[in-house]
Amino acid sequence: MILYFTGTGNCLYAARKLAAEGEKVLSIPQEMRRGGELVYADDAIGIVYPAYGHMMPDMVREFINRASFDAPYLYFVCTYGNRHANAAELCLENARAAGLNPAYVTTLLMVDNWLPNFDMDEQRARIPEKKIGENLACIRADVAARRQWIEPVTDEDRAAHEQFMSLGLRFEPSALGDFLTIDPERCIGCRICAKVCPAGCVALEGGKAVRSAQAGFGCNACLACMHACPARAIACAAGDKNPEAPRFRNERVTLAELQEANGGC
Ligand SMILES: Cc1cc2nc3c(=O)[nH]c(=O)nc-3n(C[C@H](O)[C@H](O)[C@H](O)COP(=O)(O)O)c2cc1C
Repeated sequence: MILYFTGTGNCLYAARKLAAEGEKVLSIPQEMRRGGELVYADDAIGIVYPAYGHMMPDMVREFINRASFDAPYLYFVCTYGNRHANAAELCLENARAAGLNPAYVTTLLMVDNWLPNFDMDEQRARIPEKKIGENLACIRADVAARRQWIEPVTDEDRAAHEQFMSLGLRFEPSALGDFLTIDPERCIGCRICAKVCPAGCVALEGGKAVRSAQAGFGCNACLACMHACPARAIACAAGDKNPEAPRFRNERVTLAELQEANGGC
């Protein structure tokens, strides 16, 4: 069984590629929304999530704290776009704090969807050099062999994370009040932002999208809404490296699949 969290489809794609035939692939936001007890049992359970400032998204951390896993082999795959820093160690810390003891933790380089620093045209051009398919095949083989491995972390990686933390950016709902703004003049009321939001933070009021960082499970900063908005009505306070470039969605994931994954309210 594989559980994933995604903003723009990378983790959904990775989860699907890692799944063996007939293996369940479940969306973490959907599981969280289902309510009731979160109990999972399988021979192997994988959790796939994107690195946010090298860390686990808020909802993934909450999920692993609430859920119970009965699996002889538990593994984590953290996708990232540019610099993983000490993501594997931070993942291990979160897992242990949740009472879990993963056998395998790795990072996986994919497209970087962080619009403030990255031009999506440049990112798309770099897809071949990232060798995503080959790296996924290696992880899949590792999991099939039940390899015990935690990706090593260096002091340089830790220093990179310290440097990031010193910038003061926090990807928690309480710190994301003004992170994204929706321009009512540009909004066409299509609801796509609400449908792709994994956290249920966007609603339609008077035919226009309205976001509240504290609504639903609370904004995770995933940028799903900003990438998916066809009217470019959503802006990020942290900036927009190339507003002209087409936004990103993993090229193997359709908008309908992303909406289905994230709740489609
Ligand atoms: C809020 C936020 C923070 C991010 N932080 C990092 C980071 O620290 N290092 C990195 O390499 N990529 C970072 N990224 C890029 C994502 O981790 C990467 O694109 C991931 O594959 C996206 O997965 P998804 O398409 O499933 O949402 C960040 C993206 C977002 C939205």
